[in-house]
Amino acid sequence: MKILAPSLLAGNHAYLGEALKEAQEDGRKWIHLDIMDGHFVPNLSFGPQTVVDLRKNSDLFFDVHLMLEQPDKYLDAFLRAGSDLISIHLEPTYDQEAALKKIKNAGVQTGMALNPDTPIEGLIPFIDQLDLVLLMTVHPGFGGQKFIESVLEKAKQVSEIRRDSKAEFLLEVDGGVGPEHIEPCMDAGVDVFVAGTSYFQANSLERQKFAEEVGEGC
Ligand code: DX5
Ligand code: ZN
Repeated sequence: MKILAPSLLAGNHAYLGEALKEAQEDGRKWIHLDIMDGHFVPNLSFGPQTVVDLRKNSDLFFDVHLMLEQPDKYLDAFLRAGSDLISIHLEPTYDQEAALKKIKNAGVQTGMALNPDTPIEGLIPFIDQLDLVLLMTVHPGFGGQKFIESVLEKAKQVSEIRRDSKAEFLLEVDGGVGPEHIEPCMDAGVDVFVAGTSYFQANSLERQKFAEEVGEGC
């Protein structure tokens, strides 16, 4: 499965519902929702109520990315809000295993996110619990940054771990992703491409081409 997941962070925040509708009308299946707390990352975005309200008018797959110092404190709210998948970060100190179990038990898919400088070894204990591994290709906090090429090597290593362990999680890249990154990311085994700025600044023809390059639906 290959997916292009527009990141709503790059939409107009006074009209997030409109940006969501645009992605929906473009034919997208997933939407990426970035939640920031001003602690784990130096920025704030939106909270669970926004997710609740977006859910009212959308059947898109809600790919929720929690960039929070204490994700376990907010899981209930995001589980209730209509998330289809919740990614939590590996770096902060909390009971990651319990958090993943809680997400799974609520019938929601699980993701583990890693910052560009975080070694992939920390993922190993959680491999069997994961539906998705999110590799940050920028330092999280802001849209519109430059894709960090060296993460491609990590993506290859995660793909090898997936193959060797016969795990079936999807591999997602997030940050600075544009059409020019599709091919090298594909070669590294990436399945889900989060695109904020490059998606929302493109016209509908360019978006269509972008989705075709990703091979969405294949
Ligand atoms: C960054 C977020 C990304 C961001 C991607 O902290 O996690 O999802 O919205 O936006 P672009 O594609 O503009 O880098
Ligand atoms: Zn994100």
